[in-house]
Amino acid sequence: MVILKQRSEIEKIRASNLIVAEILTELKERVQEGVTTLELDHLSEELVLKKGAKPAFKGYRGYPFSLCASINEQVIHGLPSERVLREGDMVGLDFGVYYHGYYGDAALTVPVGKISSEAALLLEATEASLTRAIHEATVGNRLGDISAAVQTHVEAEGFSVVKDFVGHGIGRDLHEDPQIPNYGVKGRGVALKAGMVLAIEPMVNAGTYKIRMLADGWTAVTADGRLSAHFEHTVAITDHGPEILSRMQ
Ligand code: MF3
Ligand code: CO
Repeated sequence: MVILKQRSEIEKIRASNLIVAEILTELKERVQEGVTTLELDHLSEELVLKKGAKPAFKGYRGYPFSLCASINEQVIHGLPSERVLREGDMVGLDFGVYYHGYYGDAALTVPVGKISSEAALLLEATEASLTRAIHEATVGNRLGDISAAVQTHVEAEGFSVVKDFVGHGIGRDLHEDPQIPNYGVKGRGVALKAGMVLAIEPMVNAGTYKIRMLADGWTAVTADGRLSAHFEHTVAITDHGPEILSRMQ
């Protein structure tokens, strides 16, 4: 069941996402050669607690960290570790908070120094697919319009969309209905209504769409070992169009 939010609730979800956006901006600035993803995790937790909010992922289904940090061929849910970031790497940073009863959730993928042209194109295509998907998040459209916008752009750029993970509704729960696949058919699926709040999150692979899970039980990696990128925004559908609640300044 898709839960529609009142304006007052959307403003609370915006407050959570403002914290997410501020922290992701800070983390992005810290990404450079020599930094470990565990350092980024610790920083994210310190910052979120200072805001009087809680890290949304820590303890969620037993997830042991505040941040997901997915390097190179890691698709999502990479576990922060002592691994040192090196020039040419790219790292997906996915962060969520719980604040005054509502969740915020966003992600971006950040290059470490100079990256390959393939990596740069992958980042660009993934972020652009999210932008296009957000434009479809309007009253009168259907969920399939969002999904198809991601898939069409990604495949036109020669990349593939991950099928085993999806975006989601968000609000009083981190994961609410509807599930939002990154592939689909225009004009299909549930009708989009004012008051829906959606976490739209394309996960895009350079090669095969297929993924496998690492033995840690969390990290998804590409089956062919090629690169993967992930961007995510929490978006409210309103009568005057989509509002990106997790916009980074
Ligand atoms: N942004 C991811 C999601 O929406 C993060 C979840 S990580 C978990 O599913 F650890 F909390 F599962
Ligand atoms: Co999410």
